[in-house]
Amino acid sequence: MYWLGIDIGTGSSRALLVNDKGAIVAGVTAAHEEIHMEKPMWAEQRPEDWWGAAQKAIREVLAKAGATGAAVKAVGMSGQMHGLVMLDENDAVIRPSLIWCDQRSQAQVDWINGHVGKEKVLECIANPVLTGFTLPKLLWVRDHEPANYARMRKMLLPKDYVRFMLTGEYATEVSDASGTALFDVVRRRWSYELAEAVGVDKSVLPDCYESSEVSGRISAAAAAATGLLEGTPVVGGGGDQAASAVGNGIVEPGIVSCTIGTSGVVFAHMEKVAYDPAGRVHTFCHAVTGKWHVMGVTQGAGLSLQWFRNQLMPGVPYDALTAEAAGAMAGSQGLFWLPYLMGERTPHLDATARGGFVGLTARHTRADLIRAVIEGISYSLADCLEIIEGMGVAVESVRVSGGGAQSAFWRQLLADIFAKKAVTLETQEGSAHGAALLALAGQTGASVVDICRMAVHEVESLSPRAAEAKMYQAGHAVYQALYPALKPVYAMIDGLEG
Ligand code: XUL
Repeated sequence: MYWLGIDIGTGSSRALLVNDKGAIVAGVTAAHEEIHMEKPMWAEQRPEDWWGAAQKAIREVLAKAGATGAAVKAVGMSGQMHGLVMLDENDAVIRPSLIWCDQRSQAQVDWINGHVGKEKVLECIANPVLTGFTLPKLLWVRDHEPANYARMRKMLLPKDYVRFMLTGEYATEVSDASGTALFDVVRRRWSYELAEAVGVDKSVLPDCYESSEVSGRISAAAAAATGLLEGTPVVGGGGDQAASAVGNGIVEPGIVSCTIGTSGVVFAHMEKVAYDPAGRVHTFCHAVTGKWHVMGVTQGAGLSLQWFRNQLMPGVPYDALTAEAAGAMAGSQGLFWLPYLMGERTPHLDATARGGFVGLTARHTRADLIRAVIEGISYSLADCLEIIEGMGVAVESVRVSGGGAQSAFWRQLLADIFAKKAVTLETQEGSAHGAALLALAGQTGASVVDICRMAVHEVESLSPRAAEAKMYQAGHAVYQALYPALKPVYAMIDGLEG
């Protein structure tokens, strides 16, 4: 018997099977098309492409495990958060999705704050509205493409579009809904109050479940397309961060994770709901029923290294980049990278922030440049950790995962920059694994905490090295001085672009 997790990421979709112990049996990744960036800070993907990739990954993972659809007892979904999928009355996708890192909606954020009031927004959704969230993206469409807006009958998140194609249900779950800016995170239900205040018809919102609740069943059409059995239950699942936290066992107090994918996230479990008064980190519902989490987000984490590689060393594997960086000195000879390629969330909440190298001299080598990029991403993640600790969350060690954590060099660097133990888990599967574990919990009735205790195991723990940690502490102070110094310049650049 197997349980299937499906993760709709940014770069690819992944299907992964676990057994009744939550151990991984097989996984398959299917790539997505490139993000379409028509203008700076715009980012779109086609939901139909996600569905195509998901079908391929599901078919192939069944084949890889030598399993029939009948062996799969339940399915869990996970995916990139915040993206806007608009369906018309025939359930056709109206326009490409504005995805999580799209930053075009500052005017709509300002309008919501002015029209509703920042205090009221906080009261309704427990977070400030940010350009990354779904509601301002929806209002951008309303303002700029009124004909598209008028045709919309349902608004879905990325993984929930794939859920719709699998089950025919318009549904989401609490962790992903938390990132729409239309969700009452404290009461774990849609904020009809905010929807009404901004003029969004509540009928467009999908049904919302807890993450391990059954949200629908595989339809006959989806069974034919994927090889799954018609009627197989599909549980709510989680936004990629909450699902990844389940995969990493971050379902109890005291354990914190750091996931470096396209974005980078530092994530902590909370028994009771709490906020950063400045709104620099997000307080969202956890995929554990009745619990919450707090997370800080670096917009351009893996994205920074990917951009560097694609522009300057095309085709070179990431292992070669990290090996080259390991040959440079810690601190990159005074060179700093600001990872604000898609603006920044934590700690700046600034869609106009820009990336850049600061401190270049003629002495710097390409190895210094790569190392500086990795250090800059890591400083930004240290910013997230600092705020979370400031909220009273005790952090003994950090469980590191995602593409960035594949590199032993980067894992040690994180230990040094965080000045905490960097712990690696036996499996690095994160979101897809978490989604499968949520399916296991939902279908068997076991608790998510018990399942994580059974399925998640630590295998490596790297301690910070004293000399490097001291050097990076000083480096972090320099890094933190750069954004305030450059902020007025970002506004000037933004003005230049019109
Ligand atoms: C979380 C976030 C990203 C995306 C893409 O708030 O925006 O993690 O979900 O991974």
